Amino acid sequence: MLLGTQRVNDAGHLEIGGCDTVALAETYGTPLYVMDEAYLREICRRYRDGLARDYPNSTVAFAGKAFLNLAMCRIAHQEGLSLDVASGGELFTALRAGFPPSDIFFHGNYKTTAELEMALDAGVGRIVIDSVPEMDHLQAVAARQGVKPEVEVRVAPGVKPQTHTYIQTGQIDSKFGLGIETGCALEGIRHLSEPPDLAFRGIHCHIGSQLFGLTSFDVAARMMADFARELRDSLGLEVAEINLGGGLGVRYRSSDEPPSIEDYARTLTTALREECARHSLPEPRLIIEPGRGIVGEAGATLYTVGVIKEIPGVRTYVSVDGGMSDNPRPALYQAEYEVIAANRADQPPAQVVTLAGKHCECDTLIKDIDLPALQPGDILAVQTTGAYNYSMASNYNRFTRPAAVLVGGGEAQVIVERETYDDLVRQDRLPERLRAPS
Ligand code: LLP
Repeated sequence: MLLGTQRVNDAGHLEIGGCDTVALAETYGTPLYVMDEAYLREICRRYRDGLARDYPNSTVAFAGKAFLNLAMCRIAHQEGLSLDVASGGELFTALRAGFPPSDIFFHGNYKTTAELEMALDAGVGRIVIDSVPEMDHLQAVAARQGVKPEVEVRVAPGVKPQTHTYIQTGQIDSKFGLGIETGCALEGIRHLSEPPDLAFRGIHCHIGSQLFGLTSFDVAARMMADFARELRDSLGLEVAEINLGGGLGVRYRSSDEPPSIEDYARTLTTALREECARHSLPEPRLIIEPGRGIVGEAGATLYTVGVIKEIPGVRTYVSVDGGMSDNPRPALYQAEYEVIAANRADQPPAQVVTLAGKHCECDTLIKDIDLPALQPGDILAVQTTGAYNYSMASNYNRFTRPAAVLVGGGEAQVIVERETYDDLVRQDRLPERLRAPS
């Protein structure tokens, strides 16, 4: 599977954005996150255009949790996307990058007072309220600051799509949002609209992540439109915007066949338009929040092969210089990946191996994968690591977090520096009584 601008060059090496990945590994070291800029921008445009073509009154907000840093904020903004942030740290990053606050949606099931103050100070476009206690909390903070924030309310439409249970979020038994079926959403929004301190703009849902079935999206969009009708009929409220969250799946393996961005967009716009017509509702602004869909396939991670251990008749383990600290997804969600031997990209598969990380755990990155005959020092490129890898990386075993480079037109630029050992101890403090020699 070759994605985006990936190709095999004359040297038989994998190339991304016109850069030889073996040379990238040499220059920047490994593990290394490589982002394919042209592909990333193309995907941003396909989301924007796919939605706007059918439904001009629409917004694509990149879900920053998938991959957020200063460069990514700039690219998202340049491509006309808004931004979904889910913490003070993500908000800080966006503001530091100069992202327009009015294009930011602030999410989270528990936003602290400090985070709400920060968001209101900055003038973020929308606060997405997740619960009734949060309405009261936000009202109090807003009153203190003398502002009237514009809000959406996150609801749980009761849709349970096919995906890993850890990333199903639209069902009733979820910490996120107010259930429609249970009546909590209606009661919550009634509560919110009584004191006029918050400006109600619309409703939000996010049913899950890495979804391949368009039916769940269709059902969710229709349920949201129906709930907008209920809000009009019961409370006389106008729903100016419907935010359907993110969730479209990407290709991790050659056998993965997610729907196209265009089919996904058409499913949402058709469902919303039909339901609005049926209920004589004015068409609201449609917002989506793709994260993985924007950055997932645009990223790859380069590793260096270290140890090859063959257990005769059992398995061959190929250990690389990273693992669960730069990609926790196999351990967390049994996620499956594909890999290319970057310096042997023109060689046929010769063996089935298991790719192991170097953490003190089972730390399997990929089980039973076909690869050419390998040697220590070879460079491997794990595909589709653009989403929820860098953003979920840790310092487990005191690993330094990798660098990230943006590649395009044959050039590479560092967008995140590799951490150093000094970075690892920078925040450590030695209380006086531990300093004396023992
Ligand atoms: N909007 C909201 C409110 C969300 O909670 C999420 C993801 C998104 C948008 C973006 O969803 P996406 O388009 O990326 O599927 N760490 C997990 C994924 C967690 C997703 C959490 N929320 C993973 O590695 O699979």
